[in-house]
Amino acid sequence: MRRTTTRSRTRSGRARSALDAGYDECRRLVRTTRPTEYALMQLMPPVVRPVSWALYAAFGYADDLLDLSEEAPRERGRRLREWRAALEADLASGTSDDPIRLALTDAVWRWGLDLGDLLGALDAVQRDDDRKGVTTWQEWRERAHAQNISWPEQLMRMLVRCGLPVPVRLRDLAGFTRFVEGLFLTDMLRDLPEDLDGGHVWFPAEVLDRFHVTPDELISRQWTPAVQRMIGHLAGEAREWLEGSRRALRGSLPLGPAIVLDTAVDLFGAELDAIVRAGSAALRRPVRVARHTEWRILAPARARAAVVWRLTLPPGRDTAMDTAMDTVGRAGADGSPRDDTAPAPLAGPERHTARIAEPPLPPRPHRDGARPPAIAAAHLPQHVAIVMDGNGRWATGLGLPRDEGHRAGAVALRDVVQGALEIGLPHLTVYAFSTENWKRSPDEVSKLFAIMRAELLDGELLDHDVRLRWVGSPDGLPDDVVNVLRSQEHATRNRTGLTLNVCVNYGGRAELAQAGAALARAALAGEVDPARVSEQLFAAHLPHHALPDVDLLWRTSGEIRTSNFLPWHAHYAELHFTDQPWPEVDRRDLWAAVTAYTHRKRRKGGTTTPTVPTRAPGETEG
Ligand code: FPP
Repeated sequence: MRRTTTRSRTRSGRARSALDAGYDECRRLVRTTRPTEYALMQLMPPVVRPVSWALYAAFGYADDLLDLSEEAPRERGRRLREWRAALEADLASGTSDDPIRLALTDAVWRWGLDLGDLLGALDAVQRDDDRKGVTTWQEWRERAHAQNISWPEQLMRMLVRCGLPVPVRLRDLAGFTRFVEGLFLTDMLRDLPEDLDGGHVWFPAEVLDRFHVTPDELISRQWTPAVQRMIGHLAGEAREWLEGSRRALRGSLPLGPAIVLDTAVDLFGAELDAIVRAGSAALRRPVRVARHTEWRILAPARARAAVVWRLTLPPGRDTAMDTAMDTVGRAGADGSPRDDTAPAPLAGPERHTARIAEPPLPPRPHRDGARPPAIAAAHLPQHVAIVMDGNGRWATGLGLPRDEGHRAGAVALRDVVQGALEIGLPHLTVYAFSTENWKRSPDEVSKLFAIMRAELLDGELLDHDVRLRWVGSPDGLPDDVVNVLRSQEHATRNRTGLTLNVCVNYGGRAELAQAGAALARAALAGEVDPARVSEQLFAAHLPHHALPDVDLLWRTSGEIRTSNFLPWHAHYAELHFTDQPWPEVDRRDLWAAVTAYTHRKRRKGGTTTPTVPTRAPGETEG
């Protein structure tokens, strides 16, 4: 394999980074060796494409090490084991001197892909190094699943990270494994000439027996009636599995992935037609689908996919063309380990400060152009506090791991913060991790912390006029989380727009107990007269005494309780409960909550009942 150690140059002469070159190499490999799969990847949102090339190229390369090499089987197996060991080392160090592994490493770090799953799929490829065929369809299916389910699931995971609620565990959807089998069998029929060149027959022995075909007949390319019948039968099976999966999956996939699946069934179906039409030639040379047939399938699919992604993905996620190549991930642009000033990967190494945009960016408009309600500053709540509940249930409802709910929750928070900036809300406090949340599995907790870190370092939250304040205790928190919270508090301390208080490792009663202890200490030291302890004095001894009183406390996901959240500050808060889980919330829900607040009558124990008028958008304050 070509090694990349230094910057190379594009045809136009522009200096290119090793990482760009790595992704380019993956793209080239997929486009030249698997044009159908490449065309399908081009139907994905642009931001997802480089990762799909990297994933596919890595698996293709590993497979080719076994298939195409001239070496003895034992030698081929050794080469693949070495390549896999090198990949594991690269994934641990975050960089590589090999272009394909560099791109894959970047993709894994940048998107937090599931390493175990990916390496498992590679192991499944490696298990083929005995080059023994399989006997039964059952064994063949197991092989198909082990090698082919992981990477489409990783692509789904990326769509979730882009803010699109898609099912990730495709294997649990009725019909998906059939689709993978149809794809695997089509691929086998397509690769037949090359496999026969290498002396391999990968169809299960049971189908050869059924049609009375011997491996030697195939390897010596004898086009007997039995061979013809068997190839026709296999193509028919593959077509039926693909079509059957399309029928079964209809309705369980959102529009974007459904277009990709639909197009895959049509394209693979066209390949199967071409193979059957080619007759004996299908044993001797690769068969290609006619260009006009490909075009007839692909042109409308491309147009539909472009529109659907634009409509369904949050702004910036559909058009961020080749983002993975625009900014570097863990590896530096020249393939060396990254330095501290470059953006960090999703769950990357130690790094505690993000570049803080100066001057901060204006709020990003809503994706559908929704405009904020015009509410006079005097009528706005000064402080809204949110229990962002329902992440876990939202994720499990979609068949996703709970941490995907927190990831989607972080995306929802981004939008709500934009909405808070648009209406000029002074303080927003969110419950991100309570002292009770330690009862969750260590895996969920560490993933949640990784999401928060990534969000505060690389998310858009702090690109805007947002001052971050951390409310909570460092006790028990990992150092890297504490460091990020502290350093971002410091970095944004001069911002004057929205103060975003994030409660991490926060418990309301513990906060009150701390204030009590501080007062007791002050009394013992003779600084405070216990007889003169007032509400104000008590408040001054709270660990977060600068936090203003909460005017509006909002909890999502149908639970009607406050769960130890800001008991002191929310003593007179208006309560607002909504049913939707937090990941489904956006800024319009914040505006609805705030608008509802303006209609509340806040008598504060008195008898006058002032209502708070709102203005329609565009109306000037009267
Ligand atoms: C409650 O849902 C939510 C949490 C415990 C975590 C919320 C955190 C985020 C949205 C990330 C915030 C990021 C930053 C930068 C502050 P749950 O898991 O309890 O849901 P369930 O009730 O359905 O189980």
